[in-house]
Amino acid sequence: MDAKEYLKESSKKVDKPIKSYIEDQEPMRLIEASRQYPYAGGKRMRPVIVLAACGAVGGDKKKAMPLAVAIEYIHNFTLIHDDIMDGDSERRGMTTIHVAYDVPTAILAGDALFAKAFQIIADLDVPTDRIRDILRYVTKAVWDLARGQEFDTMNEGKFISEKQYLETIKLKTGVLFAAAAAGGAIAGGADKKTVENINKYALAMGLGFQMFDDYLGIMGDTSKTGKSVGNDIRKGKCTLMVTYTIENLKDEKQLTAFKKILGNPKATEAQVRKAVKIMQDVGAVDYNRKEAEKMVKKAKKYLKYLPETEEKEFMLSLADFAINRES
Ligand code: IPE
Ligand code: IPE
Ligand code: MG
Ligand code: MG
Repeated sequence: MDAKEYLKESSKKVDKPIKSYIEDQEPMRLIEASRQYPYAGGKRMRPVIVLAACGAVGGDKKKAMPLAVAIEYIHNFTLIHDDIMDGDSERRGMTTIHVAYDVPTAILAGDALFAKAFQIIADLDVPTDRIRDILRYVTKAVWDLARGQEFDTMNEGKFISEKQYLETIKLKTGVLFAAAAAGGAIAGGADKKTVENINKYALAMGLGFQMFDDYLGIMGDTSKTGKSVGNDIRKGKCTLMVTYTIENLKDEKQLTAFKKILGNPKATEAQVRKAVKIMQDVGAVDYNRKEAEKMVKKAKKYLKYLPETEEKEFMLSLADFAINRES
């Protein structure tokens, strides 16, 4: 199955509900700001995972649709705040909200989406005990995500270990994928063991996804990713590729040059390219890819007990797509 095609088709189904929950209200400036990312649409991986997980356990996907919307809103709230933290000016091919509007409006737009998401979850048309279970996963994910984002910011300009890197990406990225999948499975009426396996699948997939995202952050094409490329280097983000380079680069002169570029906000395009080349030459980019592949392989194993359905097939192919995409 082609995950990209499936995502595209499913996006058409989630786009309308995603646009249906944010009503016109004063001040419209805030409403417009909060609509920007949800309406612009990204890959919609998380909402589609919600639906797929629900379908894969034999649930009624229509009942999981509002949860899919809520998860996308939470994701979008984190993107708005993340762009402020990272000082990025492009997202989903548009000017980021704190730049297009201002920082206070961007903070509030994020908060508003966050609140709306939980209102939607409270009103889900599934038994109350399942709503409670979904809330446990989702609230924990957002809490952990905040921790991950704090680690990510604290780590800027530092050289962290691979273990610390993995913990950070688990928290900042993995847990929301995991909550999306677990939430969909719970909405679909899955038993605890199945929910756990689906949760672990999405967590491992999310780790591979973030590793590949870090790769796109240095090697991607802005016209395709819709995000600023190279800024991770200027910010001194300690990705797995950076960690590997610091630990394996033996040439002292190169290492000094590398460290000088990393975290230099004024680094030129040529300097950023040089840092990237150093990482490639030392094998860091290959290492990152191989580790991402390992994660995806691990992720797929958690799905082996699920019956053969179109949704399961999608979830398997989505894991491959997570580490092989242009945006
Ligand atoms: C971006 O997520 C944030 C990360 C966790 C890397 P996506 O790459 O899924 O963003 P969209 O939803 O497609 O815009
Ligand atoms: C991804 O952060 C995690 C969240 C948005 C919570 P990044 O900063 O690594 O992702 P991009 O590259 O801005 O999408
Ligand atoms: Mg960012
Ligand atoms: Mg970030």
